[in-house]
Amino acid sequence: MLVGVIGLGRMGTALAKRLRSKDFDIIVWNRSREKAEKLVKEIGGEVASSPRDVAERADYTHIIVSDDVALFDVTMGPGGVLEAVSPTVLVNHVTCTIRASITLAEKAKTKAFPYVEAPIIGGPSVLEKGDAIILCSGDESHCGAESIAALGDVIYLGSPPRALAAKLGFNHIILGIVSSLADAFGLVEAHGIAWENFVNLVLSKTWLKSVVDRYGERFKLRGKSSFAARLAAKDALYVANALVEKGLDSSLAAAVANHYAAMVREGYAEEDYPAVAEFFAKYGRELRKKPRD
Ligand SMILES: NC(=O)c1ccc[n+]([C@@H]2O[C@H](COP(=O)([O-])OP(=O)(O)OC[C@H]3O[C@@H](n4cnc5c(N)ncnc54)[C@H](OP(=O)(O)O)[C@@H]3O)[C@@H](O)[C@H]2O)c1
Repeated sequence: MLVGVIGLGRMGTALAKRLRSKDFDIIVWNRSREKAEKLVKEIGGEVASSPRDVAERADYTHIIVSDDVALFDVTMGPGGVLEAVSPTVLVNHVTCTIRASITLAEKAKTKAFPYVEAPIIGGPSVLEKGDAIILCSGDESHCGAESIAALGDVIYLGSPPRALAAKLGFNHIILGIVSSLADAFGLVEAHGIAWENFVNLVLSKTWLKSVVDRYGERFKLRGKSSFAARLAAKDALYVANALVEKGLDSSLAAAVANHYAAMVREGYAEEDYPAVAEFFAKYGRELRKKPRD
């Protein structure tokens, strides 16, 4: 079986490495071709000339690009997957909007391409080990594909967009928790308590210990990331969008999106998303330095 991978960012690279470690033959495509050539040199496989080329040759085509725009470009744009003359099973791992997934599912259907939503819980290192959680919606037999099972635990959730609804719900929780820690860090810093002391002296003594232990160094602005702040801003915006579409209250999701958008605005787009904590702590600290009125 030949498996296609479209998008070789942090997650796509980890996915391709996982598939190769399980002896799948792969064909890959990335917008910046040099990344694809470098990866294939390292792990083997072929570089395709376009997303269409991947789809024409692969039995399953895994798509893992950044957002709605990228998803539409590689599927419905020129040279896109849906131009392929023979159908492939489309496996959409992108954390996209519910509307984008529904649109793609409808277009795929008109071309007789089977479509599954398969958003991923877990970062690149987890995915590369095959320990991710894959939420899957679509035909159950396609969700049971070997190339999906190789990535981790597959949780079948019925028809689209249920997998995406569950993924957006999950991300809302984790992005919101970290976002509220960021507010708290800013508050304690503004009152003269270093955020690290707040973590060690207070939070670590409570049930939040597991949360702060999990993130640890990732609260700090370190110039490297496994899940970029720009993608966190995008996900929170997609959550707000999904809530609005169902007539539900989106004010919390919008506030969370604004937290990560502030990082993007201030030049921290590529930082790891939990560093939003130190980002807001800095504002609190700066307030302390200002003279009083
Ligand atoms: N990182 C995580 O921990 C994590 C966890 C779960 C889910 N996710 C989701 O997985 C997806 C990928 O995340 P990532 O961390 O791998 O992102 P990333 O490192 O920023 O990689 C983004 C990928 O999308 C491609 N891309 C962007 N715009 C494009 C366009 N217009 N046309 C074609 N390709 C385009 C990039 O190509 P270039 O190389 O040419 O820029 C790159 O291959 C996102 O939806 C994210 O929300 C991420």
